[in-house]
Amino acid sequence: MIQKIFRMKVWLVASVLVLALGVGTVAAQDLSGQLEIFSWWAGDEGPALEALIGLYTTANPGVEVINATVTGGSGVNARAVLKTRMLGGTPPDTFQVHAGEELTGTWVAAERMEDMTALFTEQGWLEAFPADLIAALTVDGAIYSVPVNIHRSNVMWSNPAKLTEWGITAPATWDEFLAACPTIQAAGVTPLVVGEAWTVNHLWESVAVGVLGAEGWNGIWTGATDPSGAELTAVWDKFGEILACSNVGSDSAGLSWQQAIDQVVAGTAAFNIMGDWAAGYMTTTLGLTPGEGFGYSPSPDTAGTFIWLSDSFGLPVGAPNRDNTVAWLSLLGSVEGQNAFNPLKGSIPARADAVAAAPDLYNTYLQSASEDWASNTLVGSLAHGAAANERFVGDFGTIMEIYLASSSSAAAASAMAAVCSTSGACG
Ligand code: GAL
Repeated sequence: MIQKIFRMKVWLVASVLVLALGVGTVAAQDLSGQLEIFSWWAGDEGPALEALIGLYTTANPGVEVINATVTGGSGVNARAVLKTRMLGGTPPDTFQVHAGEELTGTWVAAERMEDMTALFTEQGWLEAFPADLIAALTVDGAIYSVPVNIHRSNVMWSNPAKLTEWGITAPATWDEFLAACPTIQAAGVTPLVVGEAWTVNHLWESVAVGVLGAEGWNGIWTGATDPSGAELTAVWDKFGEILACSNVGSDSAGLSWQQAIDQVVAGTAAFNIMGDWAAGYMTTTLGLTPGEGFGYSPSPDTAGTFIWLSDSFGLPVGAPNRDNTVAWLSLLGSVEGQNAFNPLKGSIPARADAVAAAPDLYNTYLQSASEDWASNTLVGSLAHGAAANERFVGDFGTIMEIYLASSSSAAAASAMAAVCSTSGACG
């Protein structure tokens, strides 16, 4: 009798298992048609996305993936194409969008995104992703995209062998940098290399957080920091001093972020401030080892503060291949998906449990970023969509042009106050 019950139990457990596995497998293989993934991860930026697509096509061999990329760092070109498609009623199945205002203030506000809360609940993601990050994807209690990573904006990159040769170290403060500037210039080297327009804005946010501190920076977006007050004027003053030790005004406009990094690697420039996709480029594309082939430190005056941004993907209303997209988003948010993507990308997983699941995949830079993400004060990036709405981000380019043309901190600060009030981004 006991044996009979035992045999029945085994049979029952086995049947449930077969059923469960069977449903999963059949469902995955059942998917067919296409999946169009829209992003700006082309060329050198592509390997991490391609790894993820590889996992997807193995699990879903019936789906033809269209990897639709529009090249151009920080999505400057991709976002314009995306807007035309979204407004024209031909959305891709899924697209890259920064967590925070870029998602919520643009596409969610326009009611163009599907609510993904049920997927978060079903996949156990409410526990897996940090609450603050989920908050940046949420409007009125509904969650609108799946984050694949966390990037850090405020990193200073250098070449350790060259620094030794020039007898300098990576500066902890901008004053230290300015003091070292003549020595570096005397060696025939650009102290700070900057690239095309958006990378100038990228540098500015590191300088601003350095001068204002995390609280002062956050205050811009809550209305507590006056955009045309003395604190912001001090930011522009410092920024001007720093630009005088850079290539802005000579060859910066023609350089992509990769070409700026190339100058640091070659030793024709000493430092560059860029997000840690630069670590992805230097490890994955250039094959360099963190700490040896390249050095990294928080951008000056920002130790202990992590300027964050997160790449995410959502499901636009009217996506032609909805089921295929849900399968894509499920993979994106899984430990397996995040661990295929992030070690190549130079970012850390958005999931709190992924690094610990496979620590060997993460190099020393990424381990340190992961520790800083867990322990630093976190502030959102302006240049990469976390902190302010699209209107402000777009018009910030004009503020920068005003500053570069006039070198007037007062003019830039008053332009910023005007943009704050037209965009409604500043509290
Ligand atoms: C950021 C994006 C990163 C990286 C970078 C350079 O906006 O979040 O993943 O692609 O641009 O293009």
